[in-house]
Amino acid sequence: MTLLSLSHVTKIYRQGGMLGRRLITAVNDVSFELGDEPEILSIVGESGSGKSTVAAMILGQTEPTDGELQFAGKTVAIHSRAERKAFMKEVQPVLQNPFEAFNPLKRVDRYLFETARNFSAGKRPDRQQAEKMADAALHHVGLTLEEVKGRFPHELSGGQLQRVAIARALIPQPRLLVADEPVSMVDASLRMAIVNLFGRLKNELGLSIIYITHDLATAYYVSDNIIIMRKGEIVERGRARAVLDDPQHEYSRALKDAVLAAEFGEVG
Ligand SMILES: Nc1ncnc2c1ncn2[C@@H]1O[C@H](COP(=O)(O)OP(=O)(O)O)[C@@H](O)[C@H]1O
Ligand SMILES: [Mg+2]
Repeated sequence: MTLLSLSHVTKIYRQGGMLGRRLITAVNDVSFELGDEPEILSIVGESGSGKSTVAAMILGQTEPTDGELQFAGKTVAIHSRAERKAFMKEVQPVLQNPFEAFNPLKRVDRYLFETARNFSAGKRPDRQQAEKMADAALHHVGLTLEEVKGRFPHELSGGQLQRVAIARALIPQPRLLVADEPVSMVDASLRMAIVNLFGRLKNELGLSIIYITHDLATAYYVSDNIIIMRKGEIVERGRARAVLDDPQHEYSRALKDAVLAAEFGEVG
């Protein structure tokens, strides 16, 4: 069985709206699969390479111009609120900037309780049950409900807030997380901790994770497989170790050199 498959997926945007004349091929003939075994797949590439467009198609937020995406054997196509909810029970996003994902005037625990109520099968959980679900999800990301209860977003650090966002994504018990540049707004010193968390979630919860980043180093540490994109196309793919140790494509080699230079240059 295949959890997710993209076959010959292309996305062309018309810039300047419906009547715009300039066509941009954001994603060009991309194919890859996630199997049934939990896996972390990184999609690595510089800005503009089409990563977020791939993420948006996997999340059912935008349709491909050509090609097909399937999740658990069914074509990804969302036409109603009910279909969206059913799909999001299985596939959850983690966004880039947690400060934008949370309303600054809303206490963060509310999001967890709302998600618990929205995605529960059967009877709506009462307050106590929702708190229990929130606390359990927070434990998976190294937090407790006690620590975040009643707090507003600005009262948490970027790293803590991103953990809360990940905890929220876990509440529906999805099979797949799609994390688009989840640590780019987080302090460098905390990035590895969050990326390592993905490895734990995979092992403890049997989750598959698509980790999108422009940083080959974090991708290398956490992934099973890596795809490297450039200008909308996949230019390299394989086991993480093989891609870093022996990049085949000129662009992957350049990316590797940049990673090594950054690591070497970074003191502390
Ligand atoms: N909604 C959109 N309308 C028009 N062009 C877009 C839109 N979203 C992305 N693009 C263009 O598609 C290309 C790929 O963008 P994106 O998928 O965001 O790449 P990445 O996430 O790797 O930076 C870029 O040239 C970008 O300008
Ligand atoms: Mg992007």
